Amino acid sequence: MADARPFHWEFTPEPVAREVFRIEGGRPLHGTVAVSGSKNADLKLLAAATLTGERCRFTNVPEIEDVRVMADTLRDLGVVVDHPAPNVYEVASGDVDWLFVPLEAAAKMRASFILLGPLLTRFGRVIISNPGGDRIGRRPVNLHVDAMRALGAEIEYRNGYYFAKAPGRLRGGRVTFPQITVMGTENAMLAATLAVGHTVIEPAAEEPEVDDLIAFLVDMGAEVERTAPNRIEIEGRRRLRGAQHTVVSDRIEAGTFAIAAAVTRGHVTLRNAPVGHFDALLSIMTEMGVKISRGSDTVEVDATAADLHPFKCADIETQPYPGLATDLQPPTCVLLTQADGASHVTETIFEDRLEWLGELRRMGATIEIADKHHATIHGPTRLHGVDVEIGDLRAGASLILAALAADGVTTIRGAHHVHRGYEKIDTKFLELGARIERTAEGT
Ligand code: EPU
Repeated sequence: MADARPFHWEFTPEPVAREVFRIEGGRPLHGTVAVSGSKNADLKLLAAATLTGERCRFTNVPEIEDVRVMADTLRDLGVVVDHPAPNVYEVASGDVDWLFVPLEAAAKMRASFILLGPLLTRFGRVIISNPGGDRIGRRPVNLHVDAMRALGAEIEYRNGYYFAKAPGRLRGGRVTFPQITVMGTENAMLAATLAVGHTVIEPAAEEPEVDDLIAFLVDMGAEVERTAPNRIEIEGRRRLRGAQHTVVSDRIEAGTFAIAAAVTRGHVTLRNAPVGHFDALLSIMTEMGVKISRGSDTVEVDATAADLHPFKCADIETQPYPGLATDLQPPTCVLLTQADGASHVTETIFEDRLEWLGELRRMGATIEIADKHHATIHGPTRLHGVDVEIGDLRAGASLILAALAADGVTTIRGAHHVHRGYEKIDTKFLELGARIERTAEGT
């Protein structure tokens, strides 16, 4: 496991502009909402663009804080990152002159660690901050480091940094993960594209964002193929070329809006929807009694009959794809507060993902938290507006859903966490008829 010694200097994150959402709940949402590009696909695509000196162009990029952090991290390395129009980014990595990813980047965003694989394989060395230090919570990256070593990298850990070298080029090899890891799979895959010889990654993550990355790499000239549902094989190439790519739509954002329609007993059509990428959630919703209709790139969610037939309770368990995404567990819990009976929730991926249920309880939900992985939600309950604080991105979006369903006014502090991953979330809800206001904290 990654060493989590304290860092060698005192690090104080930059202050962020704190904002508040003020939401008056109880209004059914109606209308159409466009789903944005996927955060978790886009961050890896921008990193993949450093595998070539040629220009890469991305469209359907979400305008969110994490993308801005990744763009700035790349610029600090000497990469040219242009933002010629909304939702469009261009990346040219011809003159990378500073192979150092600092703690500031890791502290803002764990996903900065995705730069390990591409920079190491293209330039033969990189120094990159461990995002797993005490100050940022326990976020291990041991599986990423082991994967690089399996490809011939020499990696030392000193003072909070990984010093990684590839003597000559990386060598293709067998990467065997003891458990499924999304970013570990992506890091290994990016590194293998420029390694000498053949690489097999198994078990490889099956998330749609991994396949979006494969599609882009293939357009860059890489030889990458998913040869079995959980196996990816790569034949290393000497160099890759620039390419264009439209980022896949965000299945987590889509799921969040689908649940928003349901908890407010509304009727919403998702446009530009990643149909087929969030079926685990849609099946649970169907089982609970929400009417779902799928088109080629639309999903219609109709919960207007819920007053006559209350939602049925459901037991849910998070799993790697194609199971229910851990990122959709918090919003699904909001829906379960509106279901009739006891619903059991099992979180298998992360240890801290049930903590936010304490805030939901303050809004009137009846929830027993048995341990870090299990909770029971009893419903239906009428939620009511209170003052709550957002602790992280997914919990933040879920508190917004709870507030939309609640009686009265909810004030949600810490809105900046939500801007990390959801494009114009307040505007999108306003357009669906919600009463939501965003202001600076203290005004
Ligand atoms: N793990 C290790 N060691 C490692 C890597 C992971 O022990 O080196 C453990 C993790 O602690 C976790 C499990 O393995 O218990 C799975 O983690 P995974 O590596 O799959 O997560 P990730 O790749 O770091 C991505 C998303 C997360 C999403 C998870 C699971 C990005 C940037 N992040 O994280 O998204 O929850 O996969 O699907 O792609 C979010 O968007 O809010 C978010 C947290």
